[in-house]
Amino acid sequence: MPPAEPSLRWDGDAIVTLDQRALPHERRILRLTTVDDVIAAIATLAVRGAPAIGLAGAMGVALSAFKHCRPGAAGHCADAVRLDAQRLIAARPTAVNLAWAVHRALGRVPEGAHAVLQEATAMLQEDITANRTMVGHAVATVLAHTPDRPLRVLTHCNTGRLATAAVGTALGTIIALAEAGRIAEVLVGETRPLLQGARLTAWELAEAGVPHRLCIDSAPAAAMSQGLVDCVLVGADRIAANGDVANKIGTYSLAVAAAHHRIPFVVVAPESSWDRSLPDGSAIVIEERDDDEVTGFGGVKTAPPGTRAYNPAFDVTPADLITAVVSEHGVHRHER
Ligand code: MRU
Repeated sequence: MPPAEPSLRWDGDAIVTLDQRALPHERRILRLTTVDDVIAAIATLAVRGAPAIGLAGAMGVALSAFKHCRPGAAGHCADAVRLDAQRLIAARPTAVNLAWAVHRALGRVPEGAHAVLQEATAMLQEDITANRTMVGHAVATVLAHTPDRPLRVLTHCNTGRLATAAVGTALGTIIALAEAGRIAEVLVGETRPLLQGARLTAWELAEAGVPHRLCIDSAPAAAMSQGLVDCVLVGADRIAANGDVANKIGTYSLAVAAAHHRIPFVVVAPESSWDRSLPDGSAIVIEERDDDEVTGFGGVKTAPPGTRAYNPAFDVTPADLITAVVSEHGVHRHER
């Protein structure tokens, strides 16, 4: 997958994507041809990152429409596609982009399967444009809040081209800053338990030639206290009306530590990550994942047999800990 190619695309009768479970050691291409394939890919994080799962979900609705909405099947077609759409949305509950994109694709079902596919590919193009625009706003925001020298920035999880259709959100911003000569070093949190930082962000930064070091998820507060962090940049899975942000587990503790050290904390996410139906973050559904992601790794048990785990995939950072939330529409500012 050359850098300019989107992380997922439609090809003939399938969604083609890079299997993120296999990275960085194997470049395995997946062809998803059924709704069940798409659900499994989203649930197991073969496709992951809020914008990417939204796009996969929308294309999943197209797969469903092509299956159920053959000429002459009109009566049952919409009901069958709606059921598939509900199953797609349930694959991961926290990122609002998934439900948003699936509903948008569903709106075109009365016009037929090709119209659904057209809507999904339009969303992919919009994500590419949104990435570029929000990165421009986010670069300006970071530079306005940081010293005038090459920066040490910290990021968490993966918010790059693997998680979107183009350059990414927070990671796209970091790469753009590096291209402008404004990055001294990126500290990458490894992102337990599935290691999106270690496996994916480190891979993308190496690909882009940006200097970086990996740290365990408990190291950032120490790094901040030693002056190794000028700014924290992260993405979002759902943003409530008051600016509370759900993102990868560990984001909240980064924001607490950054506030303590008066370090700017910037969230970069598309408008499709906003859920203004929720007044604040307390009603955001946080996905809880299997115990065995925590009690072992790579098929090897690390905890005693029978150990139970607390394994939320996301947490909610209160708006008052966030310096700015940046989207393709510009900067949503919060004082802290
Ligand atoms: O569980 P994941 O890997 O899908 O979690 C992803 C994140 O938390 C990202 O920060 C978020 O989706 C933004 S991706 C541009």
